[in-house]
Amino acid sequence: MTTKINFNGQIHDELNISVLDHGFLFGDSVYEVVCTIKNQPCFLDKHLCRLFASASAISLDIPHDKQWFQEQLNTTLSAAGNLESYIRIIVTRGIGEVNIDPSTCHRPNIIIIVMETSEYPESCYEKGIHVALVSIKRNSRDALNPNVKTGNYLNNVLAKVESNKLGAQDAIMVNSLGHLTEGTTSNLFFVRDGHIFTPSLDCGILSGITREIVIQLSKENGFRVEEGKWPGEELSEADEIFLTGTIKKVMPVSHLDGRPVGSGKPGPVTLKLMRLYEFLLKG
Ligand SMILES: Cc1ncc(COP(=O)(O)O)c(C=O)c1O
Repeated sequence: MTTKINFNGQIHDELNISVLDHGFLFGDSVYEVVCTIKNQPCFLDKHLCRLFASASAISLDIPHDKQWFQEQLNTTLSAAGNLESYIRIIVTRGIGEVNIDPSTCHRPNIIIIVMETSEYPESCYEKGIHVALVSIKRNSRDALNPNVKTGNYLNNVLAKVESNKLGAQDAIMVNSLGHLTEGTTSNLFFVRDGHIFTPSLDCGILSGITREIVIQLSKENGFRVEEGKWPGEELSEADEIFLTGTIKKVMPVSHLDGRPVGSGKPGPVTLKLMRLYEFLLKG
């Protein structure tokens, strides 16, 4: 396992950063997780676009351009020399006074963690995972917009804590109106009568890069895909449920709140999309 950490352009084996960084004090940061194929970053341009959009949404000026990130990633990936890597890019507000005001922070810190990839066990894809519809509500768009990928993930952490207590492997959240949103680190899809449904962006979700690609793949392969608003109860009527994300890829859900979804095994639509997505990544 080789881990390398790039801190503002310098590569380290280990890194300690200041407790006065507002990223640590207030979750005042933005981030992206990127996977690799043949140790090259996958969909990097989309991730960097989202990183800059997230930074702009919290008025955080990143003092470099996308080209700089690409160069830093190349050198850090080469230094790590893994077969495949997990990449986490973090931009924090930087060091400032110990109060909430970001105007005392004059220089953002940029951290790129490259470590050997750790994938979900094959059994998750073969059997599907158990999820729970939790009572914690997804942040509202006019509070902390879930479409801004900040380092403040406490909403998702609390949902995960609740799903752990319920014996599930992940949580699905509804918003304050009771409409389905997403998982703790993934987007949600469900299938009914062969059609694919997924909560729309205005439900308050992250516009996932995998979600976008899976929607496109589904349409190209003749599926009807509907983005919309559905109450949480709708999920118990689904024939299939699956989650999408950079690390999860297309992850089947076998049980919801302890009850089997459909046959209790990954269904045909999910299996087809798993294969199509895998093929797109690896050819
Ligand atoms: C809350 C949330 N939703 C969805 C996703 C999936 O996004 P992506 O497919 O871009 O990885 C993530 C990924 O981290 C996430 O944290």
